[in-house]
Amino acid sequence: MPNTPVLDRECQAGRAADRTGWEDMAETQRRLARYNEKRLRPALSNDRWRADLAEEQQMKAMEAQFVEQERQAVAVRAKSAPGTPEGFMDWYEGLRDTGPGQGDALFPWLAETASRAEMRWFIEQEIGGEAGFDDLVALTQVRMGTTAKLELARNYWDEMGRGNRKAMHGPMLSALGRALGARSTVDSTVWESLALTNMMVALAANRRYAYQSIGALGIIELTAPGRAVYVTRGLERLGIPAKARHYFALHAVLDVKHSAAWNREIIHSILAEEPRAATAIAEGALLRLACGERCFRRYRKEFGLVSA
Ligand SMILES: [Fe+2]
Ligand SMILES: [Fe+2]
Repeated sequence: MPNTPVLDRECQAGRAADRTGWEDMAETQRRLARYNEKRLRPALSNDRWRADLAEEQQMKAMEAQFVEQERQAVAVRAKSAPGTPEGFMDWYEGLRDTGPGQGDALFPWLAETASRAEMRWFIEQEIGGEAGFDDLVALTQVRMGTTAKLELARNYWDEMGRGNRKAMHGPMLSALGRALGARSTVDSTVWESLALTNMMVALAANRRYAYQSIGALGIIELTAPGRAVYVTRGLERLGIPAKARHYFALHAVLDVKHSAAWNREIIHSILAEEPRAATAIAEGALLRLACGERCFRRYRKEFGLVSA
């Protein structure tokens, strides 16, 4: 079969990447990012479907290897999450203070010190690493229980500006990018930021990671407001018009509400039905936070900030 040797080579390349480290990781993340751009876009049917399937198999193997490697790194902490819904929620909400990357020195610096060019670079990375929360929620909600599905639908509807084009969250971020003159491409985005997006897509697009995706999306809702407050302050200081900085100002407030509803309606109801999902939800939260932490460290390095 023509596919097998290609896949074998791919897996061997992946194993080599494990040995040689971050340079190969960067290449892996760029390949995954390019694949994900194509993967989620509506396309026309064509007669290349066999070649497309072969590519899909290769890329999914690369993706799985990345996720599984990262899962190993958080496995012990994820297993320490309590099994009862109340105990679990305390643990999960505690990640706001104790999770990887929380309280990073990057954000007060963005608020108080970053120049306009530095803020533009930061926003370019954030846009380059943006998977589209709306689509991730839509992919994750498939066949979830009714209570969880309803809250996922409410969250999605908010992302859609409740039917009002001007209030849609995705275009709001693009508007900020335009105001700053930010340009994002796969090549201009650091691999750490691509890895964060690739992780979120991997969790949402593969049903075996559905509960990890719930944990990862929920932890964004829980932790984004703290960071958004600092970014808003920085944008304000730099004289970015209120309309353009609305994306961060909105998430500093709205995600507090989203997070409370996510935890109450989605995580609680899933744990009531499937207590074994606790470890997977914990894992998803830690995977997302660890990817974020790696981004913040890289951004600080680019800005010449001393490691915190
Ligand atoms: Fe949003
Ligand atoms: Fe939200």
